[in-house]
Amino acid sequence: MATEKLAAVECIDVRRDFQDGSRIIKVLQGTNLTVFRGEFVAIVGASGSGKTTLLNLIGGLDTPTSGTILVDGQDITKLNDDAMSEVRRHKIGVLFQDQHLLPIFTALENVEVPMLLDNIPAEERRERAMKLLETVLVSHRFQHMPHELSGGMRSRVALARALANDPAVLLCDEPTGDLDHKTGGEIIQLMRDLAKNQNRAVIAATHDPETARMADRILLLRDGVLVDELVGDFFKTSGVDVGTRKEYRKSTTKERID
Ligand SMILES: Nc1ncnc2c1ncn2[C@@H]1O[C@H](COP(=O)(O)OP(=O)(O)OP(=O)(O)O)[C@@H](O)[C@H]1O
Ligand SMILES: [Mg+2]
Repeated sequence: MATEKLAAVECIDVRRDFQDGSRIIKVLQGTNLTVFRGEFVAIVGASGSGKTTLLNLIGGLDTPTSGTILVDGQDITKLNDDAMSEVRRHKIGVLFQDQHLLPIFTALENVEVPMLLDNIPAEERRERAMKLLETVLVSHRFQHMPHELSGGMRSRVALARALANDPAVLLCDEPTGDLDHKTGGEIIQLMRDLAKNQNRAVIAATHDPETARMADRILLLRDGVLVDELVGDFFKTSGVDVGTRKEYRKSTTKERID
């Protein structure tokens, strides 16, 4: 008998309205999403469609107007601040385009920062941070300050830092936005590896077709809901060919079965 797999992320009928003066902007209007560990999901959509809003909600940085969000089985919409910080620290890693590495700390120290809050002894912290830098192939620059690193290397360090507390879910907002084509491709490959080899759920919001192409599933955020049928059309109207809708569906179905 098949055992039921626990989703790493589950959004159920999530709504998020914003007040703009006297006007209410309905950004998410009943969004549903389920992502399992080991999956790499890309979220695409026009600018202003709500991709960042959705990632912020899943990451516990914002609260939905209504609806439920489960992270690793836990309903994060009902948590108090302390419990929420706990989930953010232990279940969720974030990689945003603007990497916010601390400029006065080395690469290694930046990766250690999230572990400080957990009072992990210095030696273990250092060892774990070094291993993470090795995973993202930048350990040879561990003593360098962020300004001494290239954009790609800074992204790798930020990725290592996002993994510091072994999160179930990795959220990436425009992870390749600042990077050249080749470097961006390497970061996406790493993100994919982190989903597959380390069994994490990776969700990336992106405008970049190359990023989307690497994902197991591409979902389009349109009119406040996520759909998968219209992805091919979305890319076509953006002047990018990611294959026909039929081909897209065929490959994702096969990958889901695999
Ligand atoms: N805190 C806020 N207060 C008011 N409006 C907001 C707030 N955050 C987001 N919005 C609005 O919600 C909508 C969705 O914004 P969001 O940043 O999620 O879009 P996006 O899909 O990430 O866009 P982009 O592709 O440009 O990054 C926009 O109209 C934005 O102005
Ligand atoms: Mg955004």
